[in-house]
Amino acid sequence: MSGKKVSVWTDNRFWQRSAVWVTGFSALLLIWLTFDTMGQISMGTQKDIDNHVIKRVPSATVINYKVEYKMNQRRGHEVPVIGGDDGKGNSLFKVKEKFFGRDDYSQQEADALLHLGKLASQAKNCMDCHTLLGNGAYYAPDLTKAWLDPMWQKDGPMQAMTGKNTKEEAMAAFLMDPGKYPTHARMMPNLGITQKEAKALVAFLKHMATIDTNGFPRGFGKIKEGAVYAKTK
Ligand code: HEC
Repeated sequence: MSGKKVSVWTDNRFWQRSAVWVTGFSALLLIWLTFDTMGQISMGTQKDIDNHVIKRVPSATVINYKVEYKMNQRRGHEVPVIGGDDGKGNSLFKVKEKFFGRDDYSQQEADALLHLGKLASQAKNCMDCHTLLGNGAYYAPDLTKAWLDPMWQKDGPMQAMTGKNTKEEAMAAFLMDPGKYPTHARMMPNLGITQKEAKALVAFLKHMATIDTNGFPRGFGKIKEGAVYAKTK
């Protein structure tokens, strides 16, 4: 070139080098984010619970504990609270709750139950109609926090309708024969779910409710009459 000063913006080498740096930096960032995410979503164990380590995806043995959904002021949304809270919305892992008459499921038993529940949810294709952790359809209520839906509670309509006096038994009864308990909303079909599968599916739903989803689905904690009932209004 004739010694004329060329602006850096029109220099090819500048853009080539920038492309290499940006690609290199993004690759490193993605690798770091991948490992960070894997750490965040790895499932906890009973040991974590014993050590009061709060995992985003807690141990399957959370089925032995009382599970609530409480506003966390610091985070600005509801978070699952397992086994009672410390007054600030953090899980205490102290208050137990019987699940089908027991609150002493071992790690192995709880893992096996959850595994069967997951397989059953896949075999019966719940996602065809429902949403689980953001995946699935919007035909039927979101199941991510279904365990916490007020309609299954003591004073809710489902225990009365199914004639059961615990949440888990009412849910299992409903799953095995949904048509028998009409809510005058859309009806869930009978999917031929066995007693064993129903118990496992309820364990799967209870565990799913304890996963910290950053407040997703939004506004779930404000549903007063239950997802199904609120929808019909
Ligand atoms: C063909 C569509 C369809 C499929 C498949 C389906 N459901 Fe449903 N489900 C519904 C509908 C519709 C409702 C609302 C029922 C009502 O209003 O009475 C419902 C309601 C529910 C509820 C109560 C929701 C709440 O807020 O508490 C639960 C729990 C549930 N289903 C679990 C399951 C599980 C677990 C599976 C897979 C094994 C499944 N469903 C498969 C259509 C479906």
